[in-house]
Amino acid sequence: MELSTMQGACILTTGSAVPDSTISNHEISQVVDTSNEWIVTRTGIKERRLLTGCNQSVIDLAVLAAQRALKNIEMNPQEIDLIILATSSPNDLFGSASQVQAKIKAVNSVAFDLTAACSGFVLGLVTAAQFLQNGAYHTVLVIGADVLSKWIDWEDRSTCILFGDGAGAVIVQACSSLNNGILGFNLNTDGNYSHQLSISYKENRLVDFKPPIMQGAFDYITMNGKEIYKFAVSQVPLSILKCLQKLDINLDKVDWLLLHQANERILKAIADKLSIDLMKVISNVSKYGNTSAASIPLALDEAVQQDKIKKNDLIVISGFGAGLTWGTVIIKWTN
Ligand code: ACO
Repeated sequence: MELSTMQGACILTTGSAVPDSTISNHEISQVVDTSNEWIVTRTGIKERRLLTGCNQSVIDLAVLAAQRALKNIEMNPQEIDLIILATSSPNDLFGSASQVQAKIKAVNSVAFDLTAACSGFVLGLVTAAQFLQNGAYHTVLVIGADVLSKWIDWEDRSTCILFGDGAGAVIVQACSSLNNGILGFNLNTDGNYSHQLSISYKENRLVDFKPPIMQGAFDYITMNGKEIYKFAVSQVPLSILKCLQKLDINLDKVDWLLLHQANERILKAIADKLSIDLMKVISNVSKYGNTSAASIPLALDEAVQQDKIKKNDLIVISGFGAGLTWGTVIIKWTN
């Protein structure tokens, strides 16, 4: 869908945060039956960051990423009107965004969580753009943060090798429609395949009321890796092509392909399908693994810090994952 640009929306700055603790493939192979060679060959992942120690949660990482983004442009947090926290690993099922709001002292903002797994950041950014482009708000903080290490079965070698913890943030602001930086999007969900990747709620206790009430708890991550792989490689290129066609932009105009950092093989296969040069693919999956909603803003922040991304560059961003949900947002870098 092409955004009706009553006014524009631009990313002003980025920030990110990862835990200090690094866990290598070698260390994981001491716990489950796997090897550095298997993990690197199948995924490209060499190490990941994990939140260790007590009383630390997704909020700590989200706050740090947000504060770094604010500091980059010396913005007063009171200028923020809205905070969207994309996460699937909140530390409170009622939502974690309000705790982020309080910790960064964004006292004038409303804050809510958005749950869409690895597509969460793309959906968060598109949601932010709606509020900005229709004039409802002026400044929005979008954070993608996940601590999936809390939801992994560390005895399941098919999932524990993949995930890492992290957070990334962007500050998006209304601007003139001539400078619009969020050009268009394409979003999709197919709930028929939700069972292929989930952290499901399982009932296991009966409370003896009349009528009786069942209670339960959330399980570990379960995933059909092969199906998710096939889904990503077949659906993401279609989403990108639809989005570009709608905007009448040719593939050769794309400067950067920034995909959810799930697996190096998936990034290469999608770039291949679109005939996009691998030099244009932003990738840091080898260092952080799959950080779910954090992966795209974390990689974006790193690319910005490394001065890879230049003013007016066209960036194609796609997220995909549990839901199943997937989507693309096309950005012109206006800084
Ligand atoms: N070490 C060694 N062997 C392993 C491991 C491991 N860590 N994990 C699985 N194997 C074995 C399997 O048991 C299987 O053995 P078998 O042939 O004797 O049965 C063999 O390796 C092949 O297993 P596959 O699952 O077929 O391996 P595949 O090549 O598909 O790679 C992987 C698995 C890496 C998970 C891949 O399917 C993948 O990346 N899929 C996408 C996953 C993904 O991106 N998920 C996140 C989405 S984002 C979100 O929303 C959270």
